[in-house]
Amino acid sequence: MAPAWSLVLHGGSGVIDRADLKPEQDRAYRAVLARAAEAGAAVLEASGAALDAVEAAIRVLEDDPLFNAGRGAVFTADGRVELDAAIMDGATLEAGAVAGVTRVRNPISAARAVMERSPHVLLMGTGADAFAAAEGLRQVDPSYFFVERRWRALEKQLDREGLIAPTRPLGASRDESHAALAHDEGKRGTVGVVARDVRADVAAGTYTGGTTGNRSGRVGDSPLIGAGTYASNPSAAVSGTGQGEHFIRLSV
Ligand code: GLY
Repeated sequence: MAPAWSLVLHGGSGVIDRADLKPEQDRAYRAVLARAAEAGAAVLEASGAALDAVEAAIRVLEDDPLFNAGRGAVFTADGRVELDAAIMDGATLEAGAVAGVTRVRNPISAARAVMERSPHVLLMGTGADAFAAAEGLRQVDPSYFFVERRWRALEKQLDREGLIAPTRPLGASRDESHAALAHDEGKRGTVGVVARDVRADVAAGTYTGGTTGNRSGRVGDSPLIGAGTYASNPSAAVSGTGQGEHFIRLSV
């Protein structure tokens, strides 16, 4: 018999070699993934919608500094955090996405608002931030997303490319309390969740800060429906992770 519901999460495509991972890092990542899975599972267990489960699980990952989404996202080459997110309802083929947002605390909820409260599928940049604010979604100063180890990763990346690092953003915290637990997953990282509820409706959501040192304004596959995110009841729910340019070219 098929399970009543199911939920699958990913925390990005960066390679984690077991030999490189300290037990406390392993525990820290698993703890956050477990919390996210539990948030989604609680929705599905109560016969809630796959769409609600996807949003609930991703919100946990975007609030945690270990993942390249929300707080803890990587920096663009000019030292900005630009966030992309998408959500899709496999029952209706409705979808919503935001690209390059800098002020909405939970972009996955902004993506959902685009889907449910606008006639559009994808909003970008300041227009997307303004839409999220008008919809009453929580706004934060861009410094909220700043994480010291991501800044160091940007400096290293730019140094490798022979480029000069930008000035540290105003208000950037030097707090490194979580840094010992973080694993260096390289340039990439994304979070994604797919779910199937008790009615057999499926949904998918994906969220990323992009790739370390990418050009400001670059949009990856995550917010592009049919590239990094897709859901359709008769087929599947999919959330991609990897170098977005490949996913876009191949309509993965
Ligand atoms: N897959 C995430 C990105 O390339 O932005």
